Amino acid sequence: MKSYIIKTFGCQMNEHDSEILAGMLEGMGYMPSSGLEDAGIILLNTCCVRETAENKVFSLLGRLRRLKGENPELLIGVCGCMPQQDSMTNRIKRLFPYVDLIFGTHNMHRLPELLAKAFEKREPVGEIWPAPEGIIEGLPVKRKENIRAWVSIMYGCNNFCTYCIVPYVRGRERSRDPGDIVSEVTGLGRQGCREVVLLGQNVNSYGKDLEKVLDFAGLLERLETIAGIERIRYLTSHPRDFNDKLVRTIATSGKVCEHFHLPVQSGSNNILEIMNRGYTREVYLNLIERIKTLIPQATVTTDIMVGFPGEGERDFYDTLELVRQARFDSSYTFVYNARQGTPAATMAKQVSQPVKKERIQALIKLQNSLSLERNMEEIGRVQEILVEGEHKSSPGLLLGRNRGNKRVVFPGGKDLSGATVPVLITKAHLAYLVGEQK
Ligand code: SAH
Ligand code: SF4
Ligand code: F3S
Repeated sequence: MKSYIIKTFGCQMNEHDSEILAGMLEGMGYMPSSGLEDAGIILLNTCCVRETAENKVFSLLGRLRRLKGENPELLIGVCGCMPQQDSMTNRIKRLFPYVDLIFGTHNMHRLPELLAKAFEKREPVGEIWPAPEGIIEGLPVKRKENIRAWVSIMYGCNNFCTYCIVPYVRGRERSRDPGDIVSEVTGLGRQGCREVVLLGQNVNSYGKDLEKVLDFAGLLERLETIAGIERIRYLTSHPRDFNDKLVRTIATSGKVCEHFHLPVQSGSNNILEIMNRGYTREVYLNLIERIKTLIPQATVTTDIMVGFPGEGERDFYDTLELVRQARFDSSYTFVYNARQGTPAATMAKQVSQPVKKERIQALIKLQNSLSLERNMEEIGRVQEILVEGEHKSSPGLLLGRNRGNKRVVFPGGKDLSGATVPVLITKAHLAYLVGEQK
């Protein structure tokens, strides 16, 4: 049965890795299956940033026991960030002995060899590399979307925020050669892609490790000239490294979108310091002010965590106050979750579950009211909307995004997919805007 399905958990980097895994599988002659039931290969590309992500994987693996029982030919593989921790690999092997293949983030390109070995040996195969061996170029990619494409510009992270597992499972920062990035984006422009999203755990450290140094602003300037590409976005940037040169480059660029995703994590200087974030609330708020002075239409989004060890009422109050001042367009909000092996996991004064719950609810309530307020401000404006396609549940309506990355729904024919059209915003909801073509 030459069909496969990949279930992806976690961030865009994992989503994009899954596109590469799919590319390799299709290169070997496998076809996508319509569901789990009729797949010959099931791959779980996993995330370990929080326990909730891991639990989803465990629950799916539990459900796969029956499928494997009914079809012993089925090959089940687990890859991505979870297996990069030895303790987790051992746990998966112990709890789910029917998993046939385990590999990590650094040896993803070895999928064809590993699969062949697993089929041949008919016993579990595991191969995890503790560290990467350089950057592998030229792997095939089966992209999920045509109009927007993810492009990795760097891998890994050197920041070691004290709560975060990512540097342990993704290794140190490595930048892709600018020439390779430019040729990938040029190819995408030729194939009809209109928007690229540059990926890295901390894109503004781009280039520091290159022989011939080129910084992130310099890379953006090079990508700006590529034909066919109308919009450039990037994920994620660290507030500490977001310098004035970069803000000015974005302000003058016609293609780099005016959307700033700047994870703040906390509004308390005490907590920011223990988190090892490298900035204060004042520095952060100054950066937002600088951005809004140079680019008044900019949208700003963030990631915020509540319940970091030692977070008291006063610290949480500072977070709420910062959110009010920054007036984020939207936030990804998280409850701190101890990750084994990170410094924060063994810190004293862990916050109790009920307090965390109370805080996350208060934070979400505040952010929702701000998001709606910010969205209402868009009413009456004519914006450039890049059409992504038909609205899935409402035929006759199109779904697109404005440059600020807000979703916009408006009437129109699907022949407009991939086009950029002017739309007058007429209504605002929490999660999207409504408009009509001008
Ligand atoms: N490299 C990116 C994102 C990393 S993970 C960055 O630095 O912004 C995405 C988000 O998950 C983080 O911004 C953080 O808010 C959250 N996160 C990371 N570790 C966490 C943990 N242990 N518990 C809860 N949330 C966490
Ligand atoms: Fe994790 Fe911090 Fe690196 Fe982001 S910058 S991936 S939060 S260690
Ligand atoms: Fe998760 Fe790995 Fe991304 S831990 S958030 S999938 S880098």
